[in-house]
Amino acid sequence: MAKLVISGPNKLEGEVLISGAKNSALAIIVAAAMAPEESVLINVPRNLDVFFMTKILEELGVKVWFDGDGLHVDGSTLSSHQVPYNLARRMRASFYVAGLLLARLGVAEVPLPGGCALGSRPVDYHIKGFQNLGAQISIEHGYMKAQAASLSGCKNYINRSSVGTTVNLMLAASTAEGTTILENPAKEPEVVDLAICLNSMGARIRGAGTDVIRIDGVKRLRGTEHTIIPDRIEAGTYALAAAITQGRVLLRNVVTDHLRAPLLKLEEAGAIISEGPNELEIAVPQRMQAVDLETAAYPGFPTDLQQPFMAMLTLAEGTSVIRETIFDRFRFVDELRRMGADLKVERDTAIVRGVSGLTGAPVEATDLRAGAALVLAGMAAEGTTEVGGVEMIDRGYERLEEKLRALGAKISREGDEKDPEELARELDYLCP
Ligand code: EPU
Repeated sequence: MAKLVISGPNKLEGEVLISGAKNSALAIIVAAAMAPEESVLINVPRNLDVFFMTKILEELGVKVWFDGDGLHVDGSTLSSHQVPYNLARRMRASFYVAGLLLARLGVAEVPLPGGCALGSRPVDYHIKGFQNLGAQISIEHGYMKAQAASLSGCKNYINRSSVGTTVNLMLAASTAEGTTILENPAKEPEVVDLAICLNSMGARIRGAGTDVIRIDGVKRLRGTEHTIIPDRIEAGTYALAAAITQGRVLLRNVVTDHLRAPLLKLEEAGAIISEGPNELEIAVPQRMQAVDLETAAYPGFPTDLQQPFMAMLTLAEGTSVIRETIFDRFRFVDELRRMGADLKVERDTAIVRGVSGLTGAPVEATDLRAGAALVLAGMAAEGTTEVGGVEMIDRGYERLEEKLRALGAKISREGDEKDPEELARELDYLCP
């Protein structure tokens, strides 16, 4: 298996172009298949998860192909309602096709996502929402089997802000009869992007990004052309890469408003941030300072940046307290400890005592964002760091080492060079 080899310490300087948002793309690729016509999606990141979603849709009969800048999705040939276990089990977002299949075919057989490196991640809110829309649901042999002659608008209170539930219910309710209300939906920018895309396909969705989403069902959706928003988590990762290496990096193609909480925390920790139209510069002239943070649903501090932020804080001056409220994302701290970090974890809280230096070591990426965090730590550490499990990183970062190298990092990929199709076949991953 491939690994990333980093020779540190590095100081990052230069510009980096941020790719389209993975988590937007995963939802919107499925949304595009809601129309029995062709759609073109621009700015889709070419990462393993996106590739994997295209494979799942193809299995259902949808035509999906990259052509230049665009990912084309043609839902006119959608024919199967059964998602094979060996495909679905590798990626949780595969559960989005449940909303698609119920809306288009009135029937769906989708494997329930199983265990996850981020802890227990049930889909009970999704299922409750489908039932509220009128679907008959049974759980049989590890599959969710859902059926509905037609879906009817309904009122849904989502217990806890959930991106996946909001996505699935927006898909299913777009063509339901009557009006669906989603109370306490996720307000993440990726949900707003999905609503914009669905509306451009003829859906009538109001309130995405607020506390209540109203969906007036329409008879059918049509094809569209839609540009995916920039990836705020990728942007945050590069901002933290600048911070941990005390460098200066200009991020291009960013929506700064999507990054308010992490940027404020970076400023609190001593980074100098300048904003321009669609760009952002992070300069860190001296050692960062400790800060406390707690993850929360958007617009709170994103759980997806908690691990890279923790990597940065291992080198900050003073003691930081991090509370993780969304997932179990502290498992990778043992890897940081092997590099010399001083970390203590108690339940959902990590105490990070800043050390004056890290030392390179062989470490293993246990999940996508942990992998990014270890690469960041490796760039700041003295000596050689080898990050194994690089396929985890490839799930959500497009050309990570290439972009870092252009910023001056001494990073290379060693081991098997495989094309994404080959990799996806071999990998047995689940989450994010
Ligand atoms: N939850 C339930 N029941 C449900 C659904 C969610 O209890 O039916 C809980 C979860 O266990 C969690 C909380 O609600 O504690 C929020 O989970 P959410 O549904 O928002 O997460 P998700 O949709 O499974 C997406 C992203 C994750 C990101 C989270 C939180 C995608 C494909 N995945 O997951 O992205 O961390 O929202 O923002 O959009 C990543 O990119 O690294 C990643 C993990």
